Amino acid sequence: VKVIHSVSDISRLTEDWRKGGQTIALVPTMGWFHEGHLSLMRMARRLGTRVVVSLFVNPIQFGPKEDLAAYPRNLERDRALAEEEGVDVLFATVAAEMFGDNFQTRISLSRVSQGLCGADRPGHFDGVATIVTKLFHLTWPHIAVFGEKDLQQIALVRQMVRDLNFAVRVVGHPIVRETDGLAMSSRNSYLSQEERPKALCLFRAITHAREFVRRAVGEPVIPALIAEVEDIITSYDGCSVEYVRVVDRNSLSPCQVVDQNSVLALAVKVCGKVRLIDNALLLED
Ligand code: PAF
Repeated sequence: VKVIHSVSDISRLTEDWRKGGQTIALVPTMGWFHEGHLSLMRMARRLGTRVVVSLFVNPIQFGPKEDLAAYPRNLERDRALAEEEGVDVLFATVAAEMFGDNFQTRISLSRVSQGLCGADRPGHFDGVATIVTKLFHLTWPHIAVFGEKDLQQIALVRQMVRDLNFAVRVVGHPIVRETDGLAMSSRNSYLSQEERPKALCLFRAITHAREFVRRAVGEPVIPALIAEVEDIITSYDGCSVEYVRVVDRNSLSPCQVVDQNSVLALAVKVCGKVRLIDNALLLED
């Protein structure tokens, strides 16, 4: 894998690839790769003839209460993992390179960035939309692969691609889970050994909700369902609910009845410190 740090080098290379008829697949990341990221890279490898993985811990998507400095980083480890997956280029860059010293622009989506995680993380999705726009301009991808764990993020990117006519196909990769069901996330590394079992409340809540719905298709079960899911989460010592919602997978607007597009979306604080999210279609087989 070739490691590129500079914005001019990456755009020159990807422009040459485009002119040479290559199909470029981009996987945007903030590094500290786990199996979830590696699955995105494998999917990109299948879809494109050239794979670019970007690695940038994006300061403008961190809120004032979120610890940017503590975000796990290890370029050498990530480089080795990307190499194993046959990634062509790791675009590993830093804020000075991405923003220069007079950066003023924000891309802001009015509806899809509200509610859910947007309510707890003001400015976060403007930061994501802005950096994804820059990455699309710098790497010229035909395809961009995002994980479906970040439900709101992928809905936001899809909306932005439609609104701004980006010629990029956005592909979602299903959530990758540990064997016990915990969705893979860089944030899992913040959990201590004692806290780790508590993080299972999210998957247990999802499993319960899907069973609950299977018994009552088409009935107005949503308020009862949400109450049961909240009870499961709070039955785990130290776990509190940030939100539990049933939303349409595309618009993210609240569902009145459960249908094929209804997603249960959860955000939970484990032991007052680690904020985890998860989601699942309620009616998927
Ligand atoms: O999902 C992430 O890791 C980030 O939000 C992304 C898409 C790389 C933008 O910084």
